[in-house]
Amino acid sequence: MELYVLYYALRGMKLLTITIYKGKFILFGSFQKFHERSNSLFIIQRRIYMRIIKSIINAMAVLALSGSIAVSQEVEVLHWWTSGGEASALNVLKQDLESQGIGWLDMPVAGGGGEQAMTVLRARVAAGSPPTAVQALGFDILDWGAQGALANLNDVAAKEGWDDVIPEALQYFAKYDNQWISAPVNVHSTNWVWANKAILDSNGIEIPATWDDFVAAVEALSAAGITPIAHGGQAWQDATVFDAVAMSTGGPEFYKAAFIDLDEEALGSDTMKEAFDRMAFIRANVDENFSGRDWNLATAMVINGEAGFQMMGDWAKGEFLNAGKVPGEDFLCFRFPGTQNQVTFNADQFMMFDQGGVVSPEQAALASAILSPSFQSAFNVVKGSVPARTDVSDEAFDACGKQGMADLANASASGNLFGSMAHGHANPAAVKNAMYDVITAHFNGEYDSQTAVEELIDAVSIAK
Ligand code: GAL
Repeated sequence: MELYVLYYALRGMKLLTITIYKGKFILFGSFQKFHERSNSLFIIQRRIYMRIIKSIINAMAVLALSGSIAVSQEVEVLHWWTSGGEASALNVLKQDLESQGIGWLDMPVAGGGGEQAMTVLRARVAAGSPPTAVQALGFDILDWGAQGALANLNDVAAKEGWDDVIPEALQYFAKYDNQWISAPVNVHSTNWVWANKAILDSNGIEIPATWDDFVAAVEALSAAGITPIAHGGQAWQDATVFDAVAMSTGGPEFYKAAFIDLDEEALGSDTMKEAFDRMAFIRANVDENFSGRDWNLATAMVINGEAGFQMMGDWAKGEFLNAGKVPGEDFLCFRFPGTQNQVTFNADQFMMFDQGGVVSPEQAALASAILSPSFQSAFNVVKGSVPARTDVSDEAFDACGKQGMADLANASASGNLFGSMAHGHANPAAVKNAMYDVITAHFNGEYDSQTAVEELIDAVSIAK
């Protein structure tokens, strides 16, 4: 075994420990205070010391660029994956990196949908210390790209052929000015319903195919004394439900006109009023403690048999799996009634913040790990989402995952794939937040449906 340890030290100065192992330099830790003269192998003049350090760093930079160096670095990752299912999925990524000798400095910011995480991010950037990598969605990524804050991932993308395997709908949010600025992890979609199978069976309820079927199922559960709908009253969750309800009420052209094109006629239409009326029906069928509840606690109500349905993105499946539940046996997944042919998607990505020039080796390693086909399968099987690459087999996925992959491919081919309004893939944050405010105020009874429509037009025209 070839192992040399070199100490270059000065009394009271900092200590750099370099190990050469199997022909590779490994830099341990960072510079540390070194006071123990007796521990130093060499006591040398500061001038000589600095020259040696400089030449070693130069040599290491050359080796790093040639890919023959193992640097014990770490990535600091800011994310909002804090629920049980999300944390298990994140572990897949952590372990992948750790197996490459890259440490993981976790920076979790709780809060589904990521609003709180984005607030923390802005504070970190303002303080001049952005994390290495940050989970982000849709238009938020483009916003950071426009500010020139993100590292250029073009080299790793070219080497690994991202252009050929990442769907265009995702590339739209992962590139700015022809430059790859983030690594897509997955594709989620928001127009799903999750149901407790035993509750449906014992009440003779079939999977509802239309809004009217859904109303009948909800009324049957209510009459049986069961909470029909598990919901968490937070703005992003209200908006997630609204994604599906609006799509179901008005169809894909309406969804696109209202949420993506911000067409005033669609925003102010009778269809929009009807969508709000349907939200009021949903509000009338949630339990009285819904306000402020986290999404995963609402999922737990369905898992534990305290409620029949939850309308939520497919990250909810991660919670069922984490609780040891099996699709088709313990729980059912189906598209929100009336949206069987559509997919309203959001894709989690990791943006790499520019750390001063070239993308760092550990950022490149993280990006590369995220897009590897084996990781795409292993991670998304646990997370509830589907791969961000089109060439990953559905073999390892359960029935809901297989359906998710097929739905995505079909929706994309038939022009039925749309960015989720609720999850930042339809419009930039200002418009999204303006919509949140109105949807939530209506859900909480502050506006009737007609007022909500009027407020929506105003809020959007101010925000856009
Ligand atoms: C979404 C995100 C998902 C999931 C969810 C709840 O915005 O895309 O990955 O984490 O929030 O936290």
